[in-house]
Amino acid sequence: MEPPVMIESNARIQILSDLEAVSNKAAEIFVNISGSCIRSRAKFSVALSGGATPIRLYNLLGSGPYHDQVPWQQVHFFWVDERCVPKEHETSNFRAVFGPLLSKIPVSEKNIHRIKAEGEPRAGADEYEMDLKKFFGLPGFPAFDLIILGMGADGHTASLFPGSKALEETARFAVPVYIEKPEWNRITLTLPVLNHAFQILFLVAGRSKADVLGEIFREGGNRRRFPAGLVRPIQGSTTWLVDREAAQRLKGNVWE
Ligand code: 6PG
Repeated sequence: MEPPVMIESNARIQILSDLEAVSNKAAEIFVNISGSCIRSRAKFSVALSGGATPIRLYNLLGSGPYHDQVPWQQVHFFWVDERCVPKEHETSNFRAVFGPLLSKIPVSEKNIHRIKAEGEPRAGADEYEMDLKKFFGLPGFPAFDLIILGMGADGHTASLFPGSKALEETARFAVPVYIEKPEWNRITLTLPVLNHAFQILFLVAGRSKADVLGEIFREGGNRRRFPAGLVRPIQGSTTWLVDREAAQRLKGNVWE
């Protein structure tokens, strides 16, 4: 396992052998951050992503060696984004977390802040925004203790896709987005919310991510073309956990 490499003052990248190693490292970080937040503030707020990459992490936390290392009653679960489908639908991000994690831990209903996306998208985004305001208080953007993000092969993250108007949102916490391929209405956290997090943890694995990751981290590269490259927390820090497949274009001290 290679040591983390600092790439900017508040961002580091760690290249690990495979997705299993990425998932275990992510679970360790989750345990450490949640423990520290709960010791100091008796609560921990985390926003989780969908997609395939974080599923192993959710399994490790829900039924693996890390299950008993987190005071689950003080954890508040949010989602980074959601498809506009019923929560039981096979593509629901709520369902993706409920199976391996939420159904396996002692967490109360009031700590599960689901994006109610099964109805009209704008109304669902408004309702989620109200829940965020109620939990985090006003004024200002929600400041999550931890946000777990993935990255698509096109550099999207959450449901913020290259060229999306949602990337220009500067006031709202959550917005509806319409994705043409595959056709989905979704609801997503906005970039300002991601960039107000205390800790961002990117999990990236697989050869299909290598080119974009290389461009994001290449010195002189145009990272702003990619939504994942726009995630740079104002006060917080970012850790990228990347497997060797996805890191193929990152050499030595990370740069191409
Ligand atoms: C989602 C995620 C999305 C995901 C990327 C990567 O709801 O699907 O928010 O941004 O993280 O698409 O997905 P994979 O982990 O499947 O590569």
